[in-house]
Amino acid sequence: MTAPRSQLALGAFLMQTGHHIAGWRHPGAQADAGSNFAHYVALARQAEAAKFDAIFISDSVGVRNRDLTSLSRTARSDQFEPLTLLSALAAVTERIGLIATASTSFNEPYNIARKFASLDQISGGRAGWNLVTSSGDGEAENFNLGRHLDHALRYERAAEFHQVVTGLWDSWEDDAFVRDKDSGQYFHPEKLHVLHHQGKHFSVRGPLNVARSPQGQPVIVQAGASDAGRELAARTAEVVFVAHQTFDEARSFYADIKQRAAAYGRAPEDIRIMPGIFPVVAPTRAEAEEKFQYLQELIPTVVGVGLLSQMVSFDLSPYPVDGPLPELPPTNGAKSRQQLMLDLARREGLSIRQTYLRIAGARGHQQVVGSPAEIADLLEAWFRNGGADGFNIMSPAHPAGLTDFIALVLPELRRRGLFRTDYQGRTLREHLGLRRPAHRAAAA
Ligand SMILES: Cc1cc2nc3c(=O)[nH]c(=O)nc-3n(C[C@H](O)[C@H](O)[C@H](O)COP(=O)(O)O)c2cc1C
Repeated sequence: MTAPRSQLALGAFLMQTGHHIAGWRHPGAQADAGSNFAHYVALARQAEAAKFDAIFISDSVGVRNRDLTSLSRTARSDQFEPLTLLSALAAVTERIGLIATASTSFNEPYNIARKFASLDQISGGRAGWNLVTSSGDGEAENFNLGRHLDHALRYERAAEFHQVVTGLWDSWEDDAFVRDKDSGQYFHPEKLHVLHHQGKHFSVRGPLNVARSPQGQPVIVQAGASDAGRELAARTAEVVFVAHQTFDEARSFYADIKQRAAAYGRAPEDIRIMPGIFPVVAPTRAEAEEKFQYLQELIPTVVGVGLLSQMVSFDLSPYPVDGPLPELPPTNGAKSRQQLMLDLARREGLSIRQTYLRIAGARGHQQVVGSPAEIADLLEAWFRNGGADGFNIMSPAHPAGLTDFIALVLPELRRRGLFRTDYQGRTLREHLGLRRPAHRAAAA
């Protein structure tokens, strides 16, 4: 069974202590979250009890910020490796989807195919792979490279990487393993398909040494938003994560991805688009604003400038904090995010300080501070008017922010019939209303 399309998909984006850059200092944050497994067990169980579609763990393969003055005042330097964490969480949850980030620049496809197929088996069909190309030089330096691969080249590598991984996931037909003790036949040789991939970036024979997984294939998630990123998403993604500042951006992105997907023979319902939302909620808007202000006042200037520098891939520390953003060279990093920051600052005439204050919570995602009805209004408007199929909830502080969202906003969404009261299915695909892919050879 699949989730009705009349309802939102909701992911809980579980960044360690929470998404606000100073959130770790909030009384409701678990300050040691990056090294505290029990904290994640509690969050995952809480999200599952609230019937979220999935929890999502982002990743960078290295510490991105080199400036120790700002880094040492944030909680962004220690975190668990996502697949290890989600494999452990699979054992203490039953229904909720488990989406882990893994980089196509710093892995080999065979390893990734194997790990996600295993997670899908271990969790009974709840795995999703957030396929990222990675964008930080600080990551590249941990993998024998002085700097990052070129933007175009890393997307090219990502496309071939995806082709190999999904090919390996079809190494075995669903009914390949008979394990018949009487006849002595363990599997049917004709139901084994050796990949024999030879491409520009990879040479992979196969087959994968993991059976076809409960979902057929784990769910593919993608979050690139540049032209190359959108093209990859349109061709490969089943869920798209994205950051928007305005509804118009959301609507135009949504239409663009679904239109590009059609060119690859895909239907609109083959892809769920889920922008990030950073909610600060309280019973009244005045209380919510007070809550938000409290967090904003916890940001040291050096931390704000450091965060914005990271988002635009350019060191802003030599510039006057109350002056405008300087002209920036095009980045080889996250292109769409740099553009989003520049557009925001220019559109509203913001200084460096005003810009970092605007993105300190949500890093460019939509920030909404208000009462439960006001937050539900925004989600409903985006959902009903072609801006989103669901949302990735980015709580300011964990666990307090997730607790607030569940206690205050979910009842309002349910009252409007916009969110499930219980799971209908067992797999992540079923929660999201995505079809189970047929085995390509068996289907042919
Ligand atoms: C919700 C969301 C989560 C993301 N998570 C990660 C992540 O965990 N690791 C990573 O390297 N990039 C992550 N990204 C960045 C994207 O993969 C991508 O690099 C970025 O959006 C810029 O894409 P572009 O170069 O196509 O513009 C995320 C983006 C979004 C919107």
